[in-house]
Amino acid sequence: MISHSIHQGVKILIETHDKVYKPGLLTETICNKMVVNNGDIAVDVGCGTGYIGITASLLGAGKVIAIDPCKEALDCTLRNASLNNISNLFVCQGVELEPVKEKTVDLIITLPPQMPFSFDFNPERYGGCDGTDVIIKIIREASAVLKKKTGRFYLVHSALANPEKVREALNENGFSWQTVETVEKALIVSDINFLTEGLFDYIIGLYDKGLIELRKKHGRYFYPVWFYLIKRSK
Ligand SMILES: C[S@@+](CC[C@H](N)C(=O)[O-])C[C@H]1O[C@@H](n2cnc3c(N)ncnc32)[C@H](O)[C@@H]1O
Repeated sequence: MISHSIHQGVKILIETHDKVYKPGLLTETICNKMVVNNGDIAVDVGCGTGYIGITASLLGAGKVIAIDPCKEALDCTLRNASLNNISNLFVCQGVELEPVKEKTVDLIITLPPQMPFSFDFNPERYGGCDGTDVIIKIIREASAVLKKKTGRFYLVHSALANPEKVREALNENGFSWQTVETVEKALIVSDINFLTEGLFDYIIGLYDKGLIELRKKHGRYFYPVWFYLIKRSK
């Protein structure tokens, strides 16, 4: 089924695929918030259906590189690019920013897998035992490919993925950041355990060790998801 949405005044058509992450509130929020300058060279890391990269192209990017390790995601992205009459989006099979050879990227946009748990279990969703494996590699590699002074980087970061470690990695790699939006999500036992039996207790175990941020209200847990705009601090 093809659905349409509007972000910052542009209409995007997206066809989903059973084996590819279905875009939801987080994907839509980043597309509402990201600032794309005319002619930007943009990279959509972990493109899934291509939703973010295609929106970046419609908003004026000059070239979009869409990366995903999953073949079905890349095929889906290409179909969606053609649905939206986009010819400046190129797909690359790979992980993080590895396929990017140029060092003149203006804009990176990413909603990476970051649910804490085994990455091998479901690479679409999980980011290693504390959720940070993919995020931290992207942060390190971003520093090598972004334009020296003006490069920007939008990262969607859930408080379930070790916030302190992620912020430390940003600092260590010479980045500063501002939060352009925060979405609060409920940690619902049945939804979380539907992903993987036992995951809720695993997450509460990380909370007990002080590795993640959760807020408790009226006996229920909530966690923030931050939308960072990241720039070089020097
Ligand atoms: C949470 S989904 C986001 C998809 C899409 N950007 C969206 O917002 O709808 C994460 C995507 O990252 C891909 N992925 C998994 N491991 C990755 C890695 N190491 N590097 C880059 N992408 C990865 C998954 O296949 C999946 O398509």
